[in-house]
Amino acid sequence: MKSVYVLNGPNLNLLGTREPATYGMVTLADIEASLKAKAKAAGVALTFRQSNHEGELVDWIQEAGRAGAGILLNAGAYTHTSIALHDAIRGSGAVVVELHLSNVFAREPFRHHSTLSAVAKGVICGFGAASYTLAFDAILPHLP
Ligand code: DQA
Repeated sequence: MKSVYVLNGPNLNLLGTREPATYGMVTLADIEASLKAKAKAAGVALTFRQSNHEGELVDWIQEAGRAGAGILLNAGAYTHTSIALHDAIRGSGAVVVELHLSNVFAREPFRHHSTLSAVAKGVICGFGAASYTLAFDAILPHLP
């Protein structure tokens, strides 16, 4: 069975109350529910996780790689700083779609650089919670 890991980084557990003007009112549980429904309809196994810890995200990227799964990754602020996540993606061999709720290019300059984009299949940002469902549709044809 095809498999997708959806991995969420720091502060995304606060969706719904965190800066709603930027991130909207949708909670991470809402996003998980809509992706689970999409995955079920597509016959894809979905693993959905969130961590505030960089090393835990590294562990999960490695796990997804071993499982032959694709990854939808919203690494939050680690997107802009993490060489460890870059190396984990590269080392895992997993197909990764980097995603963001907000349009990071329309925000502060420190959000314009991603350490992850160069090792991602592609990047989706700026569509709020729909970035997740768009990323799911985008990764489907690239799943091993
Ligand atoms: C984010 C954008 C990042 O710059 C930020 O640090 C986040 C969320 C997004 O989904 O828009 O935590 O990844």
